[in-house]
Amino acid sequence: MGIRRAVVAGGDSPIGVALATALTTAGYEVVRTSRRSQNSAADPKVHPLDFLTLDGLESLPNADWTFIVASETRFSECLRDPDRSGQINHVAPVEIGKTQASKGGRVFFFSSIAVHDGSHEDPAETDVPEPNTLYGRQKRDAELGLLDAGIDPVLLRPAKVVIPQFSLFEQWRCAMLSAQAVTPFSDMVVAPIWLETLIDICVRLIATPAASGVYQASAADQISYLEMARNIAAFDGIDPEILVPTKASDVLPEETRWLPDYATMSCGRLESDIGFERPSSLDAVNHYLRTSA
Ligand SMILES: NC(=O)c1ccc[n+]([C@@H]2O[C@H](COP(=O)([O-])OP(=O)(O)OC[C@H]3O[C@@H](n4cnc5c(N)ncnc54)[C@H](OP(=O)(O)O)[C@@H]3O)[C@@H](O)[C@H]2O)c1
Repeated sequence: MGIRRAVVAGGDSPIGVALATALTTAGYEVVRTSRRSQNSAADPKVHPLDFLTLDGLESLPNADWTFIVASETRFSECLRDPDRSGQINHVAPVEIGKTQASKGGRVFFFSSIAVHDGSHEDPAETDVPEPNTLYGRQKRDAELGLLDAGIDPVLLRPAKVVIPQFSLFEQWRCAMLSAQAVTPFSDMVVAPIWLETLIDICVRLIATPAASGVYQASAADQISYLEMARNIAAFDGIDPEILVPTKASDVLPEETRWLPDYATMSCGRLESDIGFERPSSLDAVNHYLRTSA
C-alpha cells in the first residue's frame, strides 16, 4: 500500500496540532496549513493557506483525507464582520472541500454543536439544525454546501473541547491560588469532551470505510461552568467559597452569548459506526486536571 497523505487545513490550533500528530502516528504523511507565512516558510510540511482569500488553495497537495479545521470561532468576531467570518466559516470550507474532492480525496469538516439551538436534549444527527447564532448558521451553511456538493463528506459536530492548559481553567486556578475571586457562569452549560477523545474519534472514523455524513460527539451529561470550577477547586484543595456564581445572562451582551438549555447531543452514529461511548462531563475536567497536575 502506498503512503497515505492527510491535509490538516488549519493546523495551528490546538485541535489541528493534535490531529496532525495523531495522523502521523497512524501512518499518514501529514501536511498542515497555516495562514501565517512565517510558519509555512519555516517548515516544508506546512502549506500556506488563508481561508479569507483562499490564497494557496490551488497548490494544496492532494490527499486521501483533507480535514477542514480552521474557523473564526469567536461569536463576537463573527458578528463584528459577518462577511469576513462567513468567508472563513462557510465559503472557504466548501471551496476547499470541493477542490480537494475533485483531486480524488475525502473531506472531513469540523462543524459544531452550535448548529443546534440548544432547546432540546440530545438532538439527533438527522434533526434539521436550527441555529440561533450567526456562528452556528455559518457552520450549518458550510455543512449544507459540502453535502450539496455531492462529495460524500464526513461532518463532525463536537461539543465543547477541553484541551491541556485550557486557558479558562488555567486563569481560574491562577486566581484561586492567589486568593482572588473567580466568577464562573452558573447558567452556561456544556457537555465537554477531552481533546484526545475527539482526536481518537477522527482517526477511527477515517479508518472506517463506510464513514459518511453527519456525526456528533458530546458527553452524556451536561455541566455548568460553575460546577466545573467547583471540581477544579476541590482538586486543588481550595475552599469553594472563593467562587462567586455569576449569570452569563447578566454580564455578557445578548448578541455574543450562547446559553443553550441543553448541551448534550445524540451520538448514535458514532456509537454504531465506531463503538463510541459517551463519556461523562467530568471525564474531560478530570483529564485536564490529571495532565496539568
Ligand atoms: N474548541 C472547541 O471547543 C470546539 C467545539 C466544537 C467545534 N470546534 C471546531 O473545531 C475547529 C477548531 O476549533 P479550535 O477551538 O481549535 O479553534 P481556535 O482555537 O479558535 O483556532 C482557530 C484556528 O483557525 C485559524 N484561522 C482563523 N482564521 C483563519 C484564516 N482566515 N485562514 C486560515 N486559518 C484561520 C486560526 O489561525 P491562527 O492560529 O493563525 O489564528 C486558528 O489556528 C473549528 O472548526 C471549530 O469550529 C471547536
